Amino acid sequence: MSLGQELRVAPRRQSLARRAAVRACEALAVACGGRSWFRARHLRPPGLLVRRERVSHPSLPEALIGFRVVQLSDLHAGPFVRAGDLRAVVELANALQPDCIAITGDLITHRAEDAELVRADLAQLRAREGVFGVFGNHDYRGRREGEIAQRFRADGVRFLRNEGVRIERGDAAVCVVGVEDLEEAREIDLERARACVRPGDFEIALCHNPRGALAFVRPCCLAVLCGHSHGTQLDLPWLRRAGPPHPGLRVHSGSTAILVSRGLGSIGLPLRIGAPTELVVLELERGRA
Ligand SMILES: [Fe+2]
Ligand SMILES: [Fe+2]
Repeated sequence: MSLGQELRVAPRRQSLARRAAVRACEALAVACGGRSWFRARHLRPPGLLVRRERVSHPSLPEALIGFRVVQLSDLHAGPFVRAGDLRAVVELANALQPDCIAITGDLITHRAEDAELVRADLAQLRAREGVFGVFGNHDYRGRREGEIAQRFRADGVRFLRNEGVRIERGDAAVCVVGVEDLEEAREIDLERARACVRPGDFEIALCHNPRGALAFVRPCCLAVLCGHSHGTQLDLPWLRRAGPPHPGLRVHSGSTAILVSRGLGSIGLPLRIGAPTELVVLELERGRA
């Protein structure tokens, strides 16, 4: 058994009736102009936030000080996010001049073919060291994740499916390490994902479901970037438990910061209450962890 299978989380399966109700809600909202409302309200500033997070390590090499990662999460292409809707998000992400861009899963909501809706927009992302991603639980619909990864790769977005990328800066290196989704992937393999990490390297891990984040915690892992919970999406007392558990926006374990993005998309209703859409900007600095 590969190291990582023990992280597997039982998928949250919805009844047929509940799925039908969600779809009906979405169709009604779209018919009422919900898509353009969501784009205007949540996919551009001021509704769209830039959340800045600094992560410190006492022995961060000079060459990695200021290394900047911009995270996009939970795009949920489908009823409310379609072609062209992420243009302002992409422009904002590029304007932040990232060293690397991380997409932490849930490209789509219901149908694998909906990934095509956001492909042209995401192809415009620009980062010095590249655009990387991991899949979220929704991205395995129809088991076409391999095809999605291939199409996006042609446009410069590389999905890390239990693999890592080593980025060298002078004598220093930071490895971006990504694993498949804990609920839906056929295989989760941390060891394979971390194979590129050499002694003395630092790591930034991408893991859609925050429940897997603790498995990455180690002195050289600076941050784990997660999504999935949408910050509860509708942060109201009687609705907080409707979606996956939200552990908080930033949690520390040892010297590793676990950053949970509230994401960009929406499920069920084109609405977010108390859980704004956001780009997370992670910047590395030298200092006390
Ligand atoms: Fe999501
Ligand atoms: Fe998810």
